[in-house]
Amino acid sequence: MADKPDGAPRKIALEARTVAGEKLYSPSAARNRDAIRDVVLEVMPREGQILEIGGGTGEHGVHIATAAPGLVWHSGDPDPASRASIAAWIKDAGLANLKGPHAIDVTAEDWGVEAGAQFDGVVSFNMIHIAPFAAATGLFAGAGRVLKRGGVLFLYGPFSRAGVHTAPSNEAFDASLKSRDPRWGVRDLEHDLAPLAQKNAFVREAIVEMPANNLCVTFRKQ
Ligand SMILES: C[S@@+](CC[C@H](N)C(=O)[O-])C[C@H]1O[C@@H](n2cnc3c(N)ncnc32)[C@H](O)[C@@H]1O
Repeated sequence: MADKPDGAPRKIALEARTVAGEKLYSPSAARNRDAIRDVVLEVMPREGQILEIGGGTGEHGVHIATAAPGLVWHSGDPDPASRASIAAWIKDAGLANLKGPHAIDVTAEDWGVEAGAQFDGVVSFNMIHIAPFAAATGLFAGAGRVLKRGGVLFLYGPFSRAGVHTAPSNEAFDASLKSRDPRWGVRDLEHDLAPLAQKNAFVREAIVEMPANNLCVTFRKQ
């Protein structure tokens, strides 16, 4: 993962994480992991191979893989410290259905896992708004390459709808993201993501309202 053009280390999270050895603990994951897990269990396949993109600390992967033994959950992140944390969480969890970490950067033209389009799901939580828009473009393109036909791309985060923020807090968050990096920002389901879905042969399916004005959104590969 490249640093920002000014050479400053690239920021990957907007929170203070606790560190214990290689393991990172995310306060936001502690708050939202139950709600995200429950929607994943509801709307995603209950068996098969799931590729998690931008897995961060690795806590979501452990939480979901524990609850869904029929899923083989492949977590990873392009950031080395996050990968070390994911590896530590995987090791301590001792779950046979938790794999990784991979180092996929969604902006790469080849993720290295395309052979056979073997995934039933691709998930990414809290990633595309804390990255340049090329990450959203790359996520849809790559998910289109690696998912089986009928596979599901699952996103979690804040989204605006047809150019309108869904809450004042999301509007303020969008401004704060852009002040940190003008390439970041809350993405719009209709204006930003619908064209990417169409271009890569996805049809939008579920939209689930989540705490703190976030959404889970799924797209099915045709
Ligand atoms: C805010 S963190 C979210 C982590 C975790 N998904 C969560 O919800 O707790 C965003 C993550 O996306 C990753 N990320 C940023 N750009 C990426 C890219 N181009 N490809 C893949 N992951 C990326 C970062 O390294 C970071 O770990």
